[in-house]
Amino acid sequence: MARSIVSTINGRPAPGSAEWVADSSNPSQLSDVVAKVTLADAGIFAEACAAAKQAQPLWADIPAPVRGRTVASIGRIVEANKEALARLVTRELGKPYAEALGEVQEIIDTCDFFLGEGRRLYGQTVPSEMPDKQLFTFRVPVGTAAIVTAGNFPVAVPSWYVIPALVTGNTVVWKPAEYAAASAMALFELIQAAGLPDGVLNIVFADGAATFDGLEEALQAGTLDKIGFTGSTAVGSRIGELAGRHLQSPCLELGGKNPMVVTPDADLHLAVEGALFSGFGTAGQRCTSLGTVIVHESVHDEFLAQFAAAASAAAVGDPAADVLYGPMLDQKFASRFEEYLGWIQPHHKILGSSAIGRITAASPRAGFVGDPDSGLFYHPTIADGVQADDALFQQETFGPIVGVTTYTGFDEAIALANAPGYGLSASIYTNNPREVFGFRRGVSAGMLSVNNSTSGAEAHLPFGGNGKSGNGSRQSGIWVLDQFTRWQAMNWDYSGHLQKAQMDVTEITADLEFRLTT
Ligand code: UN1
Repeated sequence: MARSIVSTINGRPAPGSAEWVADSSNPSQLSDVVAKVTLADAGIFAEACAAAKQAQPLWADIPAPVRGRTVASIGRIVEANKEALARLVTRELGKPYAEALGEVQEIIDTCDFFLGEGRRLYGQTVPSEMPDKQLFTFRVPVGTAAIVTAGNFPVAVPSWYVIPALVTGNTVVWKPAEYAAASAMALFELIQAAGLPDGVLNIVFADGAATFDGLEEALQAGTLDKIGFTGSTAVGSRIGELAGRHLQSPCLELGGKNPMVVTPDADLHLAVEGALFSGFGTAGQRCTSLGTVIVHESVHDEFLAQFAAAASAAAVGDPAADVLYGPMLDQKFASRFEEYLGWIQPHHKILGSSAIGRITAASPRAGFVGDPDSGLFYHPTIADGVQADDALFQQETFGPIVGVTTYTGFDEAIALANAPGYGLSASIYTNNPREVFGFRRGVSAGMLSVNNSTSGAEAHLPFGGNGKSGNGSRQSGIWVLDQFTRWQAMNWDYSGHLQKAQMDVTEITADLEFRLTT
């Protein structure tokens, strides 16, 4: 049964002026409409920001430890609904159930981390250069945050923003992806059940254009203080430009073309396992998905043979079953992936399945789980022989395709790893410590893995990228606190007279000419 979903502002449904209803469908069973979503226009988006702005001072006045207790409640409520939320994620986005459970666990982990932050939110007491004066620092909330998220991690990634934003005293307008509306609404309801006052968290469903205009309207009205965005590099750079015009620095988590270097003494078995999981897990639709394997020429043939065999044997299909991956998230992603498949050139050797493109009764795949014609399923594709000037090598290809190329010298591997200009996640398989630290120093990505795949970041390390992958902002752990708070410095002079910094400072005279006479 399709659920009707509308935006919620200030605790009340906001039906939306646009008479436009989008369907969110089950991508493994396209006839199953999961939700009918009424999309809001820019005015409604801006209204949500105004409501959040109004609610913010009262929320910030609630003592931080009490806000932390609310985060603890959110974690417990999500945990109690773990299976139900994961089932919905599997139904709406086609994420295999085991991965969907992992995704929900990531919300719980995030709450576990931040529930104590309400009792810390440490500032510093700092000595002054003058007597009878004390210096302090305080973390203050930024204000109102608009969080715009993608649907590949429809509940975990939003929690990376929303939970730290709330615990630090901000209010939030969350704009999830339309094709993930039911999962988003479910998480919204779970968070609301923790007892947030009206207006503290608002959810708005809108398309990209209305969202962008709404952000601009709110920035102009002064009701928006921070934007968090997870999505494509192209949209991220437009959001960065917009925020910059209003002297704001957004938190941007963008695409990736994540490399995996396989060195001569790597454990090839392990590397293949990692390449399979990060190349094809979530049908290659993670920001951290593997883009290109950069394998030493001496082990290329053996690696490729093992990788192709593993991809060919992998279970693909019904995400409720035990499969490596299910369908594409939504028709939009399936269509775009077909364009990326057009980048395959005659010099690429294709392996990994019985065909390229959509899996259907007419283009079958051995061992497919379920009915391929009912959903947006695609053959896993390994393109061997990609070259540095190929689009397949340079661009993010959100879908189940992995490029393979070779290197001779280690410096060449590093140069190839950096060449596409992204910088989210990178991995190396090696047993040589020199190569581990050479890789660490040479590769520009924000997140590195050694003998582990490019995916699977833990929820309490800094998550984020450089270059085309982001503006250097980091989510998760203690690092995200700098996104949702600003430092305020205070000095308190209780001497009773004006003491001028740098001028009225006691000096102790030193004999700098002093030398030992031995
Ligand atoms: C994303 O793709 O936006 O590291 C997030 C991982 C997951 C999160 C990915 N824990 O693959």
